Amino acid sequence: MATFIVLLGPPGAGKGTQAEILAEKTGLAHVSSGDLFRENLKQRTELGKIARAYMDKGELVPDDITIRMIQERLSKPDCARGAVLDGFPRTPAQAEALETMLAVFGGRVDVVPHITAPGAELVQRISGRWTCAAEGHIYHEKFNPPKQPGICDIDGSALYQRDDDRADTVARRIQVYSEQTAPLVKHYREMGRLVEIDGAQPVERVTAALLSTLRKA
Ligand code: AP5
Repeated sequence: MATFIVLLGPPGAGKGTQAEILAEKTGLAHVSSGDLFRENLKQRTELGKIARAYMDKGELVPDDITIRMIQERLSKPDCARGAVLDGFPRTPAQAEALETMLAVFGGRVDVVPHITAPGAELVQRISGRWTCAAEGHIYHEKFNPPKQPGICDIDGSALYQRDDDRADTVARRIQVYSEQTAPLVKHYREMGRLVEIDGAQPVERVTAALLSTLRKA
């Protein structure tokens, strides 16, 4: 049976960083709704144009659009063994749609690590984040700097700062998380699938906690 891991946590908690590492260590696909939207922005697709209006304000892209995009992504062959889901689901309607999709693919949400860190730490992490233009690899100017400033260690592409990482948008994204996504914490806890992860530790310690959780699950 396929394995699906949902990483929950506020903006800047480290979901993208850990999803990339976990996908590499487990061989599961890394499915990031934020990366998929950003790829559509870059390619100037219709979906990208619609998504930009929401992302620039720190709001969630509507459920129907997001669910369709993820359904299409999960039907790709590299997800046959499962996936690490980063940034999806983010609303109760998305969580319900995910269960339905996974039932069709012969899987279910196995474990939901909830990665948290104090608010001031989230803001500090986001304001120092640099992202690789080609593949979305994530760096931080202080906590995880690239070997050469402005250049991705992995594929040599240019690093950029995300448009939605401006202070006012970040504040809105954190608020939207508390209002619309935090209810999923209760939902998955009641289903017995939630595991709390202290995201305020160094990256390697967070990875170790996640891998130990996955082994137990
Ligand atoms: P998305 O791209 O998903 O952004 P997010 O959830 O706000 O999360 P971030 O990417 O900001 O943070 P992260 O937790 O991945 O942290 P990271 O690992 O990068 O979504 C963007 C937008 O797209 C949304 O606002 C919305 O508009 C739209 N969207 C996406 N999904 C949607 C959905 N399902 N429904 C509707 N709309 C959707 O780490 C942050 C920084 O900290 C990095 O610099 C990193 O190097 C550093 N760092 C990481 N871990 C550590 C550590 N342990 N110690 C020190 N530094 C660390």
